[in-house]
Amino acid sequence: MAYNYLRDDKHKFILYGGAAGGGKTWLGCEWLMQCGHHLPNTRWFIGRNNLKDSRNSVLVTWLKVAKLHNFTSYKIDNDGIKFNDGSEILLIDLTYYPYKDPLYERFGSLEFTGGWIEEAGEVNFKAFDVLKSRIGRHMNTELKLTPKMLITCNPKKNWLYTSFYQLYIRNQLNAPYAYISALVTDNPYLDDSYRQELAEIKEKSIRERLLFGNWDYDDNPNALVTFDAILDCFTNTAKSGARKISADLAMQGRDKFVAGLWNGLCVTIAIDKPKSNGKEIETDLAALMKNHQVGRSMTVADSDGLGAYLESYLRGIKEFHNGGRAVNSNVYANIKAECAYKLAEIITNRQLQIVCTENQKQCIIEELGLLQADNIDRDTSKKNIISKEKMKEIAGRSPDYLDVLIMGMFFELPQAGLIQDYTIL
Ligand SMILES: Nc1ncnc2c1ncn2[C@@H]1O[C@H](COP(=O)(O)OP(=O)(O)OP(=O)(O)O)[C@@H](O)[C@H]1O
Ligand SMILES: [Mg+2]
Repeated sequence: MAYNYLRDDKHKFILYGGAAGGGKTWLGCEWLMQCGHHLPNTRWFIGRNNLKDSRNSVLVTWLKVAKLHNFTSYKIDNDGIKFNDGSEILLIDLTYYPYKDPLYERFGSLEFTGGWIEEAGEVNFKAFDVLKSRIGRHMNTELKLTPKMLITCNPKKNWLYTSFYQLYIRNQLNAPYAYISALVTDNPYLDDSYRQELAEIKEKSIRERLLFGNWDYDDNPNALVTFDAILDCFTNTAKSGARKISADLAMQGRDKFVAGLWNGLCVTIAIDKPKSNGKEIETDLAALMKNHQVGRSMTVADSDGLGAYLESYLRGIKEFHNGGRAVNSNVYANIKAECAYKLAEIITNRQLQIVCTENQKQCIIEELGLLQADNIDRDTSKKNIISKEKMKEIAGRSPDYLDVLIMGMFFELPQAGLIQDYTIL
């Protein structure tokens, strides 16, 4: 399947693997060996996060592949692999240097026929983004070659997850992108001992990822909720209770207008729209409150987008200041962190029920994975979560559903409703 994608004229970016032992490194070496050999004077790259790593591991497999095919028409030198027919493969270092070379300008003048990013889980998104524009530039016109980039990796919740895997499982990954899952059990050339070794890995998150290709198991020690607990939110039955609304208002600099309608700890994603204007937000929120008998004092919205418009029409709703003082300010850095920890607690206790569409579910699963403790700020011992900027960096978008869920916890905090600061009036 991978070879079909690698030689058709539709696909350009082919992600292969998503687990250990599926023949990723072998495929990359064998594909480029064929390209270099059958297409004289072409130029390819093999990129990894660390040049030393790629030299060591890729070249070991390269030698095995060459041996199997009795292929000897090449030489290895400092820069990479030179074929006798004039083709070459450069080994390039994809390490991210945020100060020295934040935009990967060092690749700006390189011209390749195609290439391969190995162990892409360790590679910064910008490297992929820049290399996308560096392929298709050497002999592709003359030889009528579709530019191709092979990407091999283990599961990783970064750009690989959002740009490939997540779209793939939603049936939304279209050409020029493709994803092929390859597990150790798909590789007939390995004996069972390799699989056995993976099965014996103690750490469940690593075992799930490497053995079963489970992309949703994170190995982040700072995660506040487990993946299992997150998934359970969609099948739990929550106790019903007071009705409340929490809303993330999209007015300035936000991606979406999302509102959750709470019945006890059962939340339904009741509004989910692209950016809206003030009038629309006001109308939608007012209708939601009216239709479900939710009082204004039981509605909380974040303050960033609240213009004078809402103030005058929706007087009395609670305003959520992300950086506002926590109720228990000796323990939490701010009200948002306090609510986030509360959310993690009720998720862990299987008390939260989320009602939403399948697409929303995928986003929410991903966003709940962003509930991570921040341990960077060492000068304070107060509990905090990673910043919104950090979340955006990981997810590649604004975590709007997560914000709604976090804000919903406002009413679960002891005495929160009595605190004056959060009321607009
Ligand atoms: N097409 C093939 N023909 C012959 N042997 C193969 C082939 N593909 C894979 N193998 C065998 O399977 C072994 C594992 O493959 P490879 O190292 O490419 O897997 P991988 O997915 O890169 O593994 P890892 O996750 O450990 O990096 C190789 O060392 C080789 O022995
Ligand atoms: Mg490998």
